[in-house]
Amino acid sequence: MAEFITKITMIKPDDWHVHLREDKILKKVVNYTGTFYKRAIIMPNLNNPITNCSQAISYRNQILRAMNSNCIFQPLMTCYLNRFTIPEELEIGFFKKIFIAAKLYPNCSTTNSKTNIKKIDHIAHILERMEKIGMPLLIHGEEINKNIDIYDKEAMFIENTLKPLRKNFSKLKIVLEHITTKESVEYIKSKNAKYLCATITPHHLMLNRNHMFSGGIQPYLYCLPILKRDIHRKALRKVIASGDKHFFLGSDSAPHLHKNKINIFGYSGIFNASSSLLCYVTIFEKMGALKHLQSFCSENGPKFYNIPVNKETITLVKKPYKIPKQINVGKDVIIPFLSGKILNWSLET
Ligand code: NCD
Ligand code: ZN
Repeated sequence: MAEFITKITMIKPDDWHVHLREDKILKKVVNYTGTFYKRAIIMPNLNNPITNCSQAISYRNQILRAMNSNCIFQPLMTCYLNRFTIPEELEIGFFKKIFIAAKLYPNCSTTNSKTNIKKIDHIAHILERMEKIGMPLLIHGEEINKNIDIYDKEAMFIENTLKPLRKNFSKLKIVLEHITTKESVEYIKSKNAKYLCATITPHHLMLNRNHMFSGGIQPYLYCLPILKRDIHRKALRKVIASGDKHFFLGSDSAPHLHKNKINIFGYSGIFNASSSLLCYVTIFEKMGALKHLQSFCSENGPKFYNIPVNKETITLVKKPYKIPKQINVGKDVIIPFLSGKILNWSLET
């Protein structure tokens, strides 16, 4: 159902899950995020992960220094949990507003995730503290047992890990990140949105697993959680088109240098910061659901995190936007999601 809207002014969105990396890559990617979003939750899985307050402060400063001076961007930092995380460090960081949340990567679940957390019981004392102080837990929700089929890891995580975790910590605030399956949609939407929400990426809303193998293997569409069957993509689209408040924007923009994507062991992650917001608009428009765009992009996230929505607005216009073909980083390049393609929406200049 097409909607004949050619201009949208909305509350400036936030990206509740983004990887900005460091140094050369950070400098190249950060302004895309700063242009489209007022705030973003910054993932802590650096080569040397962010595990304490002083690292978070210095990474935050590094991000702000890399930003154009006309950007009023606010990075929201997260703490990378591992077997050795000290609950007091989390508590201090949360109360001093250094950390907005802590991130759980089950051991070796994705890029830079050697957390040694092989079972949730290993961090029960940490979760107990987070529940007590109201600090949200952000979860990469995939089982890590190598015998589980990669396409089933998310659904199995809900059964084997998330359900027991929520039974033991019923007041812990949790975001199940970058969900990809109908099982996740069904589970999340049936629960209290004060305690459990989920983010959804543009690529999981636009693509299914066939796309990864269309015309040859497409390493640039390899991300984790992996793209799923179309039935799952449809379930994700349906739930955001319904305006359900449990779901909000999290791009999972995850830049990798070309040499690392096109490698015998290629890295997982899709860099989409140059177009993520424009992709979401395109998706909502296609579904005839533009009336729910603002709540997904700008309202449901702040509500979950108990912070005000942004005062600024952003205006999008129906005008072709060409996604950059590549972004040069020294002698290497980063190839963006939908590289060189044209979208029908742009930012008003
Ligand atoms: C992310 C990365 O590269 O840091 N990769 C990805 O495939 N999404 C990590 C993550 O969020 O899983
Ligand atoms: Zn991510």
